[in-house]
Amino acid sequence: MKIGIIGAGFVGRAIAKLATQSHHQVMISNSRGVETLSSYGPGLGCAIGTRDDAIAFGDVVVIAIPFHAYPSLPVASLAGKIVLDTGNYMPERDGRIPALDQKEATTSGLLSAHLNSETGGARVAKAFNAIKMAELESDGKPVNTIGRRALPLAADDTHARDIAIRLTEEFGFDALDAGGLDESWRFERGTPAYCVPMNRAELAKTLANTDRDTLHPGGVALI
Ligand SMILES: NC(=O)c1ccc[n+]([C@@H]2O[C@H](COP(=O)([O-])OP(=O)(O)OC[C@H]3O[C@@H](n4cnc5c(N)ncnc54)[C@H](OP(=O)(O)O)[C@@H]3O)[C@@H](O)[C@H]2O)c1
Repeated sequence: MKIGIIGAGFVGRAIAKLATQSHHQVMISNSRGVETLSSYGPGLGCAIGTRDDAIAFGDVVVIAIPFHAYPSLPVASLAGKIVLDTGNYMPERDGRIPALDQKEATTSGLLSAHLNSETGGARVAKAFNAIKMAELESDGKPVNTIGRRALPLAADDTHARDIAIRLTEEFGFDALDAGGLDESWRFERGTPAYCVPMNRAELAKTLANTDRDTLHPGGVALI
């Protein structure tokens, strides 16, 4: 696959490295410009480009930027793309977002609504948000390893879901489909499943037992 990555921080770099190791073609980008990425391409084994280069390059585009920046993502050029949203809502970084504080929306739901504000928008899956990036790089195991760590994902679009499952498995984790984007609150920041290592059975049980009314979006969390 051709994967464009928007954001070259902890998430962008980890996914670039793992996707390259999985023999995908990758282009990474950031907000400051290509000249600040010159050491990244060789180090990660991927191409570097501007944000718009990465969008044009990727059949799949990974969003790995602070959540507050999602309204700046271009709707037209992401139309038709598979978009993997790794974002988490951190009010201390992102500012208060009432729809999330009041549990009326999910982070990926807001992103999807933005990207689908014109017809024929992007197809969004939430993935890789509920694990520390150091562990994404270290905890992957071959398929059928006993106790293999599971990671949750969610999507409304079948193709986006399939891509999220494929990459999760290629990175060495059991992929657990939590349902549509409206169910993705079950593994957002501050939930019991968030950044806690679990195997598939443990994660499935935890997601099923998570009660939204007792959650505190943006509350105490690891990252
Ligand atoms: N860190 C983790 O372990 C982890 C795990 C799961 C999920 N997450 C979530 O994933 C997202 C990214 O986290 P991170 O830790 O990778 O953040 P980070 O280290 O702060 O990196 C953010 C990257 O986004 C770029 N950026 C910022 N605004 C942008 C914009 N408008 N357009 C294009 N690029 C932009 C920055 O560019 P510059 O480099 O030019 O400043 C930087 O490369 C966040 O929502 C975070 O909560 C983080």
